[in-house]
Amino acid sequence: MEQIQIIDSKKHVGETVTIGAWVANKRSSGKIAFLQLRDGTAFFQGVVVKSEVPEEVFQTAKNLSQETSILVTGEIREDSRSKFGYEIGITNIEVVSESHDYPITPKEHGTDFLMDHRHLWLRSSRQHAVMQIRNEIIRATYEFFNNNQFVKIDPPILTGSAPEGTTDLFETNYFDQKAYLSQSGQLYMEAAAMAFGKVFSFGPTFRAEKSKTRRHLIEFWMIEPEMAFTHQEESLEVQEQYVAFLVQSVLDNCEYALDVLERDKEVLKTYTKLPFPRITYDDAIELLKKNGFDDIEWGDDFGSPHETFIANSFEQPVFILNYPKAIKPFYMKPHPTREDVVICADMIAPEGYGEIIGGSERATDYDFLLEQIKSHGLDEKEYSWYLDLRKYGSVPHSGFGLGLERTVTWISGIDHVREAIPFPRLLNRIYP
Ligand code: 4AD
Ligand code: MG
Repeated sequence: MEQIQIIDSKKHVGETVTIGAWVANKRSSGKIAFLQLRDGTAFFQGVVVKSEVPEEVFQTAKNLSQETSILVTGEIREDSRSKFGYEIGITNIEVVSESHDYPITPKEHGTDFLMDHRHLWLRSSRQHAVMQIRNEIIRATYEFFNNNQFVKIDPPILTGSAPEGTTDLFETNYFDQKAYLSQSGQLYMEAAAMAFGKVFSFGPTFRAEKSKTRRHLIEFWMIEPEMAFTHQEESLEVQEQYVAFLVQSVLDNCEYALDVLERDKEVLKTYTKLPFPRITYDDAIELLKKNGFDDIEWGDDFGSPHETFIANSFEQPVFILNYPKAIKPFYMKPHPTREDVVICADMIAPEGYGEIIGGSERATDYDFLLEQIKSHGLDEKEYSWYLDLRKYGSVPHSGFGLGLERTVTWISGIDHVREAIPFPRLLNRIYP
């Protein structure tokens, strides 16, 4: 008898197999027991018929409590009525370890309670589905960038630089110096682009943001591509191709997870159509004003109602181009004919999910950057290595950062970014 994972059912229809599983739920009558099982790869049904198994097997099945771990043996058969499509006709059950008073019962629980039990909540079918989608997005990210000749480069996590401003830094001691947890690997990726051409990073980033919203995590994962000899327009093309590829990969490989989450696949398909619309910051402000938003002026950053309104006007991911210089980081390339804006773009996801990408063309001029570093109150000495990149063969280059969890939240169609990462770090929450 072979021990398999239920996800491989297709290859084993009609065979008797053994599966290591946990009991998610159970229903039984005097004659038959239906076990809702999960083995880590999927949720599936096990059926125990009293008249077909030894009496003690049926009694074991009837007495199983939620989250008891078992080795279950039986025949794999097709089951067209279930979402999963296969079930197991159980002939034997061996209890591995009993579970009593499992805190997360099939009834509704409040969010705080579930977050306190995140280590167990991860076992539930919706959380499982979201993590499968996250995994697919990670897999597809490597596929996309490998296919397009990007080299994966790992920037440091402990750093001395603050590319995205000094307000939300996590400071730590680095022997007798100050260090920060990385907000973004970008500056290092710029150095890497000058060494390898096209590069991408994929790692954790940290922001001590005091905002408690559906979109903000304190620790989140970012994919940061950087491309030498590349202007903004080509970078936007890479961005839209990458995002469309992620959506298509989830559609192709996560059908079951999308069904568990009741995500509308027809809607997702519309996000694979290229190009994505583009609107300038100026026009976006005008659009908002025309539609009754009197709480925003040219020069302000968008809040989430603004982003949602703009995104809803297009029903696709949309690029907002050329924000005011004053509200963007120091490294962005100035616009050739306008002093007040920079060459940058944010990609706003549809359906109210907000910004998923921030990117720009980078300033290439040494003197301009030095001036910027000073005027942003940054220490020139700490950025001298970065300025070197403009001293020794500076080239036009562009890059962007995609927030993994915001993208998972959007593609999964869930409400809150805290469910898009296994163990979210939130304002005032570092447990479990
Ligand atoms: O727009 P941001 O701040 O851009 C950068 O960090 C650039 N240095 C990236 C680059 O050009 N290499 O962040 C990029 C993305 C955002 O669009 C968002 O998706 C995500 O990172 N993000 C967050 N996700 C979750 N929680 C937070 N607190 C986030 N802050 C940013
Ligand atoms: Mg941003």
